Amino acid sequence: MSVTVSTVQSLKQKGEKISMITAYDYTTARLVDAAGINSILVGDSLGNVMLGLGSTVPVTMEDMITFGAAVCRGAENALVVMDMPFMSYQASVYDAVVNAGRLMKETGATAVKLEGGVEVADRIRAITAAQIPVCAHIGLTPQGVNAFGGFKVQGKTADGARKLLEDAHAVEEAGAFAVVLEAIPAELAARVTEELAIPTIGIGAGAGCDGQVLVNQDMLGTFTDFTPKFVRRFAEVGEVMKNAYAAYDAAVKDGTFPAPEHCYAAPAGVLENL
Ligand code: KIV
Repeated sequence: MSVTVSTVQSLKQKGEKISMITAYDYTTARLVDAAGINSILVGDSLGNVMLGLGSTVPVTMEDMITFGAAVCRGAENALVVMDMPFMSYQASVYDAVVNAGRLMKETGATAVKLEGGVEVADRIRAITAAQIPVCAHIGLTPQGVNAFGGFKVQGKTADGARKLLEDAHAVEEAGAFAVVLEAIPAELAARVTEELAIPTIGIGAGAGCDGQVLVNQDMLGTFTDFTPKFVRRFAEVGEVMKNAYAAYDAAVKDGTFPAPEHCYAAPAGVLENL
């Protein structure tokens, strides 16, 4: 059964946790889908883990569409949410609606996600009015890295916590179907989760959220440039891959690969008559 935004919302109502993970390609989307994960986020974190850009700021609409369409071709059941890249919605409500529409039409995704609270509520309202489900994202919003002066935990002061609560209520009131809470104190995330009717999806926001999201390469241990405190590695796939590459290198160099079973044989007589 395909997961819809209503399915995700009903999980909160039933008190069941929501699983979300990022993916950027067809093969990974198929594996994530087969594992029964509720939702795939095509995150603009692809700027870090797929393109090696060092931040999400340079990611373009074209990047998102290429990777997003591949994911949608692989995801049969999971709800696919597309991140709106930096400057695809910040300049105007018009840009926000047009670019959200483009992401939906050119990838086949079911929803979009954008960063910000009170200041983007008008964008969320307009995109939702265009019949496009929106997931909000508040707390540490990586597209704002230059304004924040780094990747810093948010909501640690009384003013910061108040602002986060205001943002949470603003995005819910604007029509978001869910909200990602990134890098905020666990107690604050639990309070937001209690106060909102829509599901909260945490990343570095503790166990009190309605669901969790992680970046695929972080939880598999294939991206090691930096590892945030909130990441748990569920497998050391990076090590498995490195060992496989080394074994391939050795087999090619010592001539044990390819073996006879990997080769095509010429039909009898063909080569003799050349
Ligand atoms: O881009 C991304 O992967 C995200 C998650 C970190 C929530 O926004």
